[in-house]
Amino acid sequence: MKGIVLAGGKGSRLYPITLGVSKQLLPVYDAPMIYYPLSVLLKAGISEILIISSPDQLPGFQNLLGNGSEIGVSFSYASQEAPRGIAEALIIAETFIEGDSCTLILGDNLFYGDGVEMGLQKAIHSGGASIFSYPVKDPERYGVIDFDAAGDPQDIIEKPANAPSNRAVTGLYVYPNSAVDVAKGLKPSARGEIEITDVNKHYLKTGNLQVIGLSKSDSWFDTGTI
Ligand code: G1P
Repeated sequence: MKGIVLAGGKGSRLYPITLGVSKQLLPVYDAPMIYYPLSVLLKAGISEILIISSPDQLPGFQNLLGNGSEIGVSFSYASQEAPRGIAEALIIAETFIEGDSCTLILGDNLFYGDGVEMGLQKAIHSGGASIFSYPVKDPERYGVIDFDAAGDPQDIIEKPANAPSNRAVTGLYVYPNSAVDVAKGLKPSARGEIEITDVNKHYLKTGNLQVIGLSKSDSWFDTGTI
């Protein structure tokens, strides 16, 4: 199992703070933001991790984290030339992933709780594709899960005007190796990005997506805004 942290984006909702420094390097309590998603991967026992950021921001992450040998893991780096979508991380990571499965986490997503740790173990051991949902008050900001009458997921809608539920898709994804080819086959959305939601929909439509529900006793924050 390989790990990928996507720490890209302009962080424009945090301007001017993020004009000079990457959002994922900003302090959250006593640590750079990226420590939190990294620790999710490390606690799950993932020790080969690729950090993806924009070419101008990548040196900041390399200065902070090095090659990982000090803590007995391996960090490597790759750049995303333009913000072409979360799913592009899978394509950029193709040679790093090789024939392996991967866990992708967004560098600005903060998770905490037993449900996250247990859910991630379950996802990793399943060998298939898994996503994690979390109840939110503002689902229109996220990918949102649409459930059928039996309570099973039937669709995922990216930033819906009228959200079908309050269950947001968080920025933590576990994929089999086939996800690289799924991402390669996607067409850009209206916002010009290849959407991770389309990767997830592919697995949902083929009956191969596990949706793990986190509860309010776990914590999840997407740190896009102040
Ligand atoms: C992205 C995904 C969205 C997901 C969110 C979690 O949104 O597209 O499905 O709910 O991350 O943080 P974006 O950050 O691109 O607005």
